[in-house]
Amino acid sequence: CEQFAPFIDEINRLKKEKNAVILAHSYVHPEIIYGVADFTGDSYKLSKDAKAADADLIIFVAVRFMAETAKALNPGKKVLIPSRLNGCSLADSITDDDVRRLKVGNPDFTFVCYINTSAAVKAECDVCVTSSNVYDIVERIPSDKIFFLPDKLMGENLQDEMKKRGVDKEIKLYDGNCYVHAEYDADRIVRLRNQYPKLQVLSHPECSRDIVQKSDVVASTSGMMDFMREDRAGDSYLLLTECGLAGRAQAEMPGKTFIGPCLECKYMKSNSLEDIRRVLVEPEAEDVVEISDQVRAGALECIDNMFKYAE
Ligand code: 13P
Ligand code: SF4
Repeated sequence: CEQFAPFIDEINRLKKEKNAVILAHSYVHPEIIYGVADFTGDSYKLSKDAKAADADLIIFVAVRFMAETAKALNPGKKVLIPSRLNGCSLADSITDDDVRRLKVGNPDFTFVCYINTSAAVKAECDVCVTSSNVYDIVERIPSDKIFFLPDKLMGENLQDEMKKRGVDKEIKLYDGNCYVHAEYDADRIVRLRNQYPKLQVLSHPECSRDIVQKSDVVASTSGMMDFMREDRAGDSYLLLTECGLAGRAQAEMPGKTFIGPCLECKYMKSNSLEDIRRVLVEPEAEDVVEISDQVRAGALECIDNMFKYAE
């Protein structure tokens, strides 16, 4: 698209000049994904890409908690976040003080946090998980008392999945949710299945258990892309996750039909080429992701435990 071309050329030139790498989540605008990103994917893939990043500068085009994870994994590198509206309704629902209080009341529990949390919250928790590995990791943790935070809907899906797998663990939950995924309505699935007989319904584990139980596939954003690339049974897809993924899927799989409407995350969508160029040229203090050494050490242990249990 012509309006983006000058930005894209300049950003790609600046990237080389500054030995920078751009990591972008699948929910951000397509001109970022296809124009300037070096790595795209879900939270788990991006945290692995951040760990392996061979660059002096990391530009994290997503939300703050993901950029903080990159910083915890790369203390010697400068990490910049282009958007100023870089929150997340899940990460913002809980503080490190909240976790400390919960730990006092639940001393026998292993604290498992979703990756959608600040580094300070991770530093208070034992193991971190993402949407792509939450079920397997909780099953593998050698403890039968789990406190899962902050996503209540994902936590309910986790409780259901553990029962399905015959895993007997007490799982306590916190009360956060993702304002995007919480909006989807399970009744639509039934209506659309009548309309599209070869419909495949894919939902993210941040959706309600009502939705998850009516879905054909429950997966992270990368898991959904992988499924659709391989799938031969369906010809139309309902993606119950942030809208950006449907755009990516449509661009990569033009022969398949994606059913809308879908909902947008205002935080992810606040990233722009203009801001990426701005932080590459002259970053301000607010754009630089910093975490204290103490928080970093605790968060890193929590993230490393995820890699340990996931592999
Ligand atoms: P994924 O790890 O599945 O990409 O999810 C991240 C997220 O923020 C979902 O809303
Ligand atoms: Fe957070 Fe939801 Fe946006 Fe994902 S979609 S970044 S969980 S607010």
